Amino acid sequence: MTPRTVKKKTATKKVVATKLSKKRPAAISKNDTKPKLYASLVVQLLSLLKGEHDFIANSANFSALLFSSLPNVNWAGFYFLQGEELVLGPFQGNPACVRIPMGQGVCGVAAQRCETIIVPNVHEFPGHIACDVASNAEIVVPLFDGERLLGVLDLDSPTIGRFDDQDAEGLNELVTVFVAHEERLGP
Ligand code: SME
Repeated sequence: MTPRTVKKKTATKKVVATKLSKKRPAAISKNDTKPKLYASLVVQLLSLLKGEHDFIANSANFSALLFSSLPNVNWAGFYFLQGEELVLGPFQGNPACVRIPMGQGVCGVAAQRCETIIVPNVHEFPGHIACDVASNAEIVVPLFDGERLLGVLDLDSPTIGRFDDQDAEGLNELVTVFVAHEERLGP
């Protein structure tokens, strides 16, 4: 399985939680599981962020929300851009490598390309940086303040093929909500 990239979406899509009719066919309900979970996470994230503007506290709670809510995830957290490298930020999971140069590892490649990268099998990704031996799949989502790269959100899973386009869309929505909140409140 080869890594795939998902181009950054510039437009912010409104996420509206909809009630499912009991008569809805089972197949549609099943495909709806991830979007519904991410829609619920947007609501929960907004609630966690409400009135708080400490960036470290907010990113720590964001990573904890993802780690505790998403199934089959063994690491969830941030790397923030400092000069030409990414530096470890708030996270949940095992201790991780602190500094990742731009263009290295999945995080550095996603940051350099400014694209979401889904890696079905990290053992097939050239230059993957192994922080936790349990990790087999990974998704990395860049964070932007307008056009300026702030860093990346990184999630690992022990399950090969764990992340897909629905995760990419849901996580992009969440980081967009997160950054918009931080911008609104200012420093
Ligand atoms: N695997 C990442 C390094 C960070 S850890 O997964 C937490 C990478 O290749 O960039």
